[in-house]
Amino acid sequence: MKSLIGRSVYLRLAETSDAEFINSLRTDSQFNRYLSAVDGSVALQREWLKAYKKREHAGTEYYFIVLKRSDNTAVGSIRIYDFRLDRNSFAIGSWILNGAKTRSAALESALLCYRYGFKELGYTNCHLDVRKGNEKVISFHQKSGAALVGEDGENVYFDMSLESCDLFLNTFRRFIEPEFYE
Ligand SMILES: CC(C)(COP(=O)(O)OP(=O)(O)OC[C@H]1O[C@@H](n2cnc3c(N)ncnc32)[C@H](O)[C@@H]1OP(=O)(O)O)[C@@H](O)C(=O)NCCC(=O)NCCS
Repeated sequence: MKSLIGRSVYLRLAETSDAEFINSLRTDSQFNRYLSAVDGSVALQREWLKAYKKREHAGTEYYFIVLKRSDNTAVGSIRIYDFRLDRNSFAIGSWILNGAKTRSAALESALLCYRYGFKELGYTNCHLDVRKGNEKVISFHQKSGAALVGEDGENVYFDMSLESCDLFLNTFRRFIEPEFYE
């Protein structure tokens, strides 16, 4: 796996030992309003991660912890999953950043996942679903160039095309190619 290093944060694959951290993110009422509920036990989170590691080894899902470059503190999570071979598309989700995040952690973690999904894995589309009311994330996807493609009672759906992603990656390349800008 190529390095997933941004200007202020980097991504590494989640391990079963991250159960406690992920559980702390997912059970924090500040962050979980628009995420599917978890039951709140670290043991179950660990079991979920064990099953995930099998999917990771099979190449069907990548779950990342977001860490600060300055001191290696874990500040969040983001996941690439739901590979749809019929439309050559992947999804990004489980996106949470806590109070210790850097100002550009959202931008960097999204850009790094897009670059990985499109450029490393070779997908030509990314599908995104966002709970209705999660205005911050809806606005993020709109600003990033994703197209609103549908909605139902619960969610709004976006597609990020390869062309839009290229534009997004290029516009903000200084956030994920810091070596060329430092
Ligand atoms: C989703 C989440 C990770 C996004 O992180 P965030 O830090 O809130 O993201 P923001 O949209 O505020 O973006 C951070 C900065 O990047 C900027 N930015 C984001 N996207 C941008 C874009 N496409 N173009 C330009 N600037 C952009 C923002 O303006 C903001 O800058 P500011 O700090 O100067 O205002 C975070 O809100 C979170 O953990 N939410 C709870 C969990 C959740 O609902 N997850 C989503 C499930 S779909």
